[in-house]
Amino acid sequence: MRILSGIQPSGLLHIGNYFGMMRPAIALQAEGEAFYFIANFHALTSVRDPRILRENSRRVALDFLACGLDPERAALFMQSDVKPVTELAWILSTVAPMGLLERAHSYKDKLARGLPASVGLFSYPVLMAADILIYDSDVVPVGKDQKQHIEITRDLAVKINETYGEVFKLPEPRIHAATEMVPGLDGQKMSKSYGNTIDIFGEENEMRKRVMSIVTDSKPVEAPKDTKSTIFQLYTLFASEAEQADMRARFEKGGTGYGQFKKELFEKLWTYFAPMRKRRDEILADKSYVDQVLKAGAERANEIAHKVMTRVRAAVGL
Ligand code: ADP
Ligand code: TRP
Repeated sequence: MRILSGIQPSGLLHIGNYFGMMRPAIALQAEGEAFYFIANFHALTSVRDPRILRENSRRVALDFLACGLDPERAALFMQSDVKPVTELAWILSTVAPMGLLERAHSYKDKLARGLPASVGLFSYPVLMAADILIYDSDVVPVGKDQKQHIEITRDLAVKINETYGEVFKLPEPRIHAATEMVPGLDGQKMSKSYGNTIDIFGEENEMRKRVMSIVTDSKPVEAPKDTKSTIFQLYTLFASEAEQADMRARFEKGGTGYGQFKKELFEKLWTYFAPMRKRRDEILADKSYVDQVLKAGAERANEIAHKVMTRVRAAVGL
């Protein structure tokens, strides 16, 4: 089984990224041949400062390794280090129906948030399809917001197969129901672009402040509280069954204020990421480690990409 996923270096990684994509991807690395990359071509659609793009890209690689990506099992690389992916994106774009891309939610959402309506932003899912198909991927671990992109990928693979014969495998998304949509501080989907995130490797006081700023209703201390609260929802990601049952009982009984629950959430969250912070410091001590990992990862990725592209070029007549 070949597993593939990517993440944009468009900001700092947050716990939505961790539970939605990184943790499932890290768990899958034991089950097959894994390829994980930093989608810096994609990030060009929103990050316009070259220094920031470069810094974020390295930082995402570092953070992914700190969270448990094992470079012996999974190839980690920069999207831009596998050049043929843009060639495949072009080939796919020649069969991609305009209407299919016009229906993409993420394009409409991004325009609504004020991103410039560039051709790159519009054809973002075509490049993503190329990312997936160029490695003959079987499984793609992502959060729910990426589901439509995988469906578009399958549609484009079918189009090519119908036009040119069996060229591509059809990949499957792998989305975990319990973590498909981690809520942010305001209860909406946690997202870099909504400013409602809790970062994985934030500074302690800043993280505490953010947890304490989770939006709640104005129920007094003595009132019973609803476990739909973002505080409880986030707590379930970090706490054991017994700890969850204990907090649930105190929510339902009343007598504990939101401030107390937030403190408990912060403590759990801070402890949960402690081993990863330690690993991150160790990696940082070896200045060339991340570059070496990315270089070796790119070599493995290119090997497969070149094989698949030879097949694709032959099929389409290039
Ligand atoms: P953001 O919305 O913060 O820009 P990305 O679009 O870069 O996040 O997402 C990177 C990966 O993390 C994707 O697989 C996405 O589905 C997942 N992800 C992002 N936010 C969440 C969330 N709040 N809950 C679950 N998964 C998420
Ligand atoms: N679009 C994904 C995101 O915003 C990142 C991405 C790019 C990706 N190419 C991919 C994810 C291929 C999975 C497979 O999170």
